[in-house]
Parts: sequence; C-alpha cells; structure tokens
Amino acid sequence: MSQDRTVIVLAAGEGKRMKSALPKVLHPLLGRTMLGHVLAAARALDAQRTLVVVGHGGDQVTAHLADIAPDAIPVTQAEQRGTGHAVRVALAAVPEATGTVIVLNGDLPLVRAGTLAALLATHASEEAAATLLTAEVPDPAGLGRIIHGPGGFERIVEERDAKSEELGIHEINAGAYAFQAGVLREALEKLSTENDQGEEYLTDIFAVLLADGASVATWRAEDPTEAFGANDRAQLAMLRATLRDRINTDWMREGVTLLDPATTWIDVDVTLGRDVVVEPNTQLRGTTSVGEGAVIGPDTTLTDVFVGANAKVVRSHASNSWIGAGASVGPYAYLRPGTSLGEHAKLGTFVETKNAEIGAGTKVPHLSYVGDATIGEQTNIGAATVFVNYDGVAKHRTVIGDHARTGADNMFVAPVEVGDGAYTGAGTVVRRDVPPGALAYSQAPQKVVEGWVASKRPGTAAAEAAARAKGEPTPAPEPTPAPESTSAPEPTPAPGGSGEPQD
Ligand code: UD1
Ligand code: CA
Repeated sequence: MSQDRTVIVLAAGEGKRMKSALPKVLHPLLGRTMLGHVLAAARALDAQRTLVVVGHGGDQVTAHLADIAPDAIPVTQAEQRGTGHAVRVALAAVPEATGTVIVLNGDLPLVRAGTLAALLATHASEEAAATLLTAEVPDPAGLGRIIHGPGGFERIVEERDAKSEELGIHEINAGAYAFQAGVLREALEKLSTENDQGEEYLTDIFAVLLADGASVATWRAEDPTEAFGANDRAQLAMLRATLRDRINTDWMREGVTLLDPATTWIDVDVTLGRDVVVEPNTQLRGTTSVGEGAVIGPDTTLTDVFVGANAKVVRSHASNSWIGAGASVGPYAYLRPGTSLGEHAKLGTFVETKNAEIGAGTKVPHLSYVGDATIGEQTNIGAATVFVNYDGVAKHRTVIGDHARTGADNMFVAPVEVGDGAYTGAGTVVRRDVPPGALAYSQAPQKVVEGWVASKRPGTAAAEAAARAKGEPTPAPEPTPAPESTSAPEPTPAPGGSGEPQD
C-alpha cells in the first residue's frame, strides 16, 4: 500500500459571521491563527505535500502561509462552491497524489495531532475507502449530524437539510477526513448540488461511496472540544478559553503553579520550567520561555521574552527581551525590544528600557528611561535618570562601565561614555565622557536667599511655618495677598526653576 500522504486544508470560505476584514482562518488563538493550529496538528502526519485551498482573502492567507508554513502550497478556489468543490480543485493541482488524502477544515483549530493520527490508524486498520472524525457534542447546532442505520454509519446530513428528528442527534461531523486518493477523485465527480445551499458538499461523498459498495469508517474523538469550530467571535472566545484551559492544565501537570488559571493566558509555543509561579492576570505570549522557580505577575504581559531561573517579574510589560536568572523586574517596568538584563540585575518601578544591555547585578531601581545603552556589571543608576538617546534625527548610544555609581536625576546625552568605577553627582547632565574612577558633576552653585518667603509670600502657610521653625512670632494672616513689592530687589529664580511656586 502506498505510503504517499497529502494533506488538504480548506480555507477559502469568507466566514461572514465574523464580520471582519480578516479572513476567518487568520483570526488568532493563543499564539497561532486558526489555520496555524490546523497546520501544526497536521504537521505530525509527515505528509509528502500540504495544500491549502484559498479564496476569500486569498492574498492575506497566502502571505500568512509564507510566514508560518512556507512548504504548504496555496491552491486558489476562485468561487466558493462548497467543501467538495474545494477538495476537487485541490486534487486537480496534484495529479501525482496517491495513497491517503487527509482533508481538514481550516476552522478546526482545537483538533489534536494525536487524534488525527488515530483517525489515520483506523483508516488503515479498517482498510476503509474513507474515514471521518466524529464527536459527541453538547450543542450540535449548525453542524453536520452523523446518521447511523442498521448496518452502521450511513450518511452525514447538514443541519439546514436535516429533518427535525435528525436535529436531535448529538454526534456530529468534526470536519477531518481520510480518503484513499483514487476513490476520492472518482467520487468527487459524482457530487450533486441538490441541497439547501446549492453547493458541492464534501459530506455527501460518504453516501456516494457506500452506494458504490466502498467501506466508510468513523473515529470518534474522545474529547469533544476538539471538534469545536468558530463561526463568530463569541464562539472564537469560547475556543480561546477552551484552549487556555487545555494549555494551563498541561502546565500545571508539568509542575507549574498558576494561581488563577482563568486569567492566565499562555500561548502554545511558550515554555515554562518547574516551580514557575504565574500570578493572576498574566499573558505569556509568542516564544516566551520562563526558567525554573521564576515568579511572573500579577498583571504582566511578556511577548517573546526569555526569563531566567528564579527571576521575578511583577506588574510589567515586556517584549523581545532577555531577563537573566535571579533578576528582578517591576512593579511597573516596561521592557521594549532589545533589552537584556544580566543575572541578579534589577529594573525597578516606572523604568522603561529599549535596546539596553544591562550587566549582571546592575540596578536601575526608580523612574528612569534607559534607551540605546550598554551598562556594565554591579553598577547603580540613580533615580530619575534619562538616557538621552535621540538628537531629533538619529539615535546614539551611552556606555557605562562596571561598578559605576551615577547620581539621581542624571541625563546621559549620547553618545557618551562613563568609565568603570566612575561617580556622577545628583542632577548631572553628562555631555562629555567620564574617565574610570572620576567624579563628574555639573550643577550650578546653589544660591540661598534668606527670608525670601517672609518678604515675598507674607501671610502664606509657608511663611507661618518658616516663622514657627525659626521661633519668630507668627505674623497675623492678611485677608488678601500682599501686592508684589516694587521696591525690594527681585531675587534670583524662585525655587523650582522658572515657574513661581504655587500656593
Ligand atoms: C462543515 C461540514 C459539516 C461539519 C462542519 C464542522 C460541509 C458541507 N459541512 O460545515 O458537516 O459539521 O464543517 O465544522 O462540509 N471552504 C472552502 N471552500 C468552500 C466552502 C468552504 O474552502 O467552497 C472551507 C471553509 O473556509 C472552512 C471549511 O471549508 O474552513 C468548512 O466550511 P464551512 O462553510 O465552515 O462549513 P460548515 O458549514 O461549518
Ligand atoms: Ca465551519
């Protein structure tokens, strides 16, 4: 028997009820599109060729295929004349296909690879001309019903063509089939369009085969959720929740603690080590991987992020970043692409980073922006520091060495370098390189204008507090603010820089 295998995925339909500019099969579910899930399940079948029938939004679907499954061949079905017609169009493109043809609906994202393998195993062991996947579902609305007769399986009836007693059947056609290629080719020629939609239904083929004396087998999925499809966004949300529960249960069985599985969303390609703890309201997306013992969340979104063992990431948002083992991030940190945080380093509260390499043990604890920077090991960056990376035209890099201590409220005006072991004073605007071990500071000398408040803001709460502090008699409050004195000399800038202090 020929081992040749062809997979055909049907993805030409519009999915009207999605009411979307995006073709239905491109709607995402936890890290893959619906079509991506189907192709991933089919990949395990090791087929010689995989065809995807495209039509509605064909350009979008074809572009997506080039991204996720470049070896899959798109075949255009110009007019959507039914699932049987779609298979006919696909088979015409591969006259060389023999052996087994596996047909999968493109909107069957929860089917497992193992179930498709079991379907094929049944198909082979029963030496059937065709084998179809069925499921016993709680709500069969909209689906094709499986009709059994005295001799077993007889046919599939579509809901819109079903009699009322047939509508009560809960065993449905899931939309996954295996066929002998030659038998399929012949039978496809015999499909009629005499049904409520005037389409060539693939599902009519089984009655045709049985009438010709061929054998049809069925394989019922143990888990009915595998047969769930999505025709609108409410059903899509149900699929997503079902897949979330499946993924979460698998991870909990692998030794991961999820404190609130209902609000934990883990994409299919994420990997988690043992004893990882995921706090509520956390999304782990893309190819994120989290090492043993790390604690993530609550309220955290990581997309394509590596997190080392025992790191902690609290109430933070990160993408395309590397967080070293034992590092600490957040609460309220924003790691933009290209952030790399060394082992045991710290990014604290209200810290934003981008294209920043931050060495082991280095701390950026408070209220800072670190963009386009390389910081060595065991360095401490003072609170409220800005890496001034953009001159209005181009981005520049700041390099800070190991064991440096930079003061609070610094600005590093890139390109600039601070050497190993250097210090900078509070409020320094670092425009020129600081050699290793040097101190840089740039603040203007502080001026103190004694008695300014008593003379310029008499009668205010500040004036009273100052008088009390100095043990002076508290002046009686004045009903209206005193007019600005014109005789007294104007002092140098008021505290706080340019603006007047507010009442
Ligand atoms: C189909 C089955 C139904 C089954 C259900 C499972 C038929 C006639 N009915 O119904 O028995 O219970 O799936 O979800 O097959 N497509 C094309 N070209 C077309 C028409 C459809 O590529 O001309 C694609 C669609 O994009 C979709 C798949 O085929 O991915 C199934 O089509 P859809 O219209 O969703 O069929 P259902 O009515 O759900
Ligand atoms: Ca469907």
